[in-house]
Amino acid sequence: MKLRNKVILVTGSSTGIGQAVALAFAKEGASVIINSKSDVTGGKKVLEEIKKLGRKAAYIQADVSDEKKVSNLFKNIVEQFGTIDILVNNAGYAYGKPFLKTTKDYWLAQFNANFFGTVLCSIEAAKIMKEKGSGKILNTASVRGLPNTGREGIMAYSAAKAAVINFTKTLAKELAPQITVNAVAPGFTLTRNYGTYPEEVKQGFLDSTLLKRWITPEEIADAFIYLAKADAVTGEIITVDGGFVLK
Ligand SMILES: NC(=O)c1ccc[n+]([C@@H]2O[C@H](COP(=O)([O-])OP(=O)(O)OC[C@H]3O[C@@H](n4cnc5c(N)ncnc54)[C@H](OP(=O)(O)O)[C@@H]3O)[C@@H](O)[C@H]2O)c1
Repeated sequence: MKLRNKVILVTGSSTGIGQAVALAFAKEGASVIINSKSDVTGGKKVLEEIKKLGRKAAYIQADVSDEKKVSNLFKNIVEQFGTIDILVNNAGYAYGKPFLKTTKDYWLAQFNANFFGTVLCSIEAAKIMKEKGSGKILNTASVRGLPNTGREGIMAYSAAKAAVINFTKTLAKELAPQITVNAVAPGFTLTRNYGTYPEEVKQGFLDSTLLKRWITPEEIADAFIYLAKADAVTGEIITVDGGFVLK
């Protein structure tokens, strides 16, 4: 798919990986909708950066794990942009807890943020894409969602990202041939989330990779741009992890 003038929603794009993905699509000539749950300041900053590139853009605040808010988000997009061509389900966060201290509410909160947001936005986007006969859905998974690299302290997050990976592959079957569905599984990518980690823990993360360095959000964005352009690829998970899984 050529990206110029395509309409793209990147959920969770006020900062971090989502911000880099939104900017990368804008540089390719796309119209971009930026979203976050509560970080309005960050979202508007990204909006200004994209407008400076001369692209059409909007910031829409919405909690993507809330069904009603997701429905309104897509109504708003159709009103402002007429359609949606590419959905990037990126919103999410990892909140750790020792397993024996976890509760159903904790597990639900992690699944709401990391899995149900992806499902709800995919339903709304697929309705529009099916009707016009084309579209792409791209998900942010995680190396923690792959079979052997879930992390004990963030087990609910790992399970939710495993669900995203299974969902990506099954949705690719469900929505073919008009719509492709793929995911990127990032490894240790330097965003605000590592700000509070002690230096030795961060070094331990990097030592557990082959390349011994952080992945940049822009390197994750490159994988999304590839998947957005690739018309022959569906049900694929691209791992961008500096060799973490291999090691
Ligand atoms: N960084 C890594 O090492 C890494 C590795 C593997 C996977 N990932 C995944 O990559 C994605 C982005 O991570 P990141 O490190 O860039 O995170 P980040 O810097 O914390 O950014 C997360 C973004 O998601 C938004 N968000 C969170 N919950 C939301 C919700 N319910 N509705 C709408 N927006 C929501 C946040 O906005 P608010 O602040 O307003 O909530 C923010 O814009 C996540 O899915 C994460 O699990 C990250």
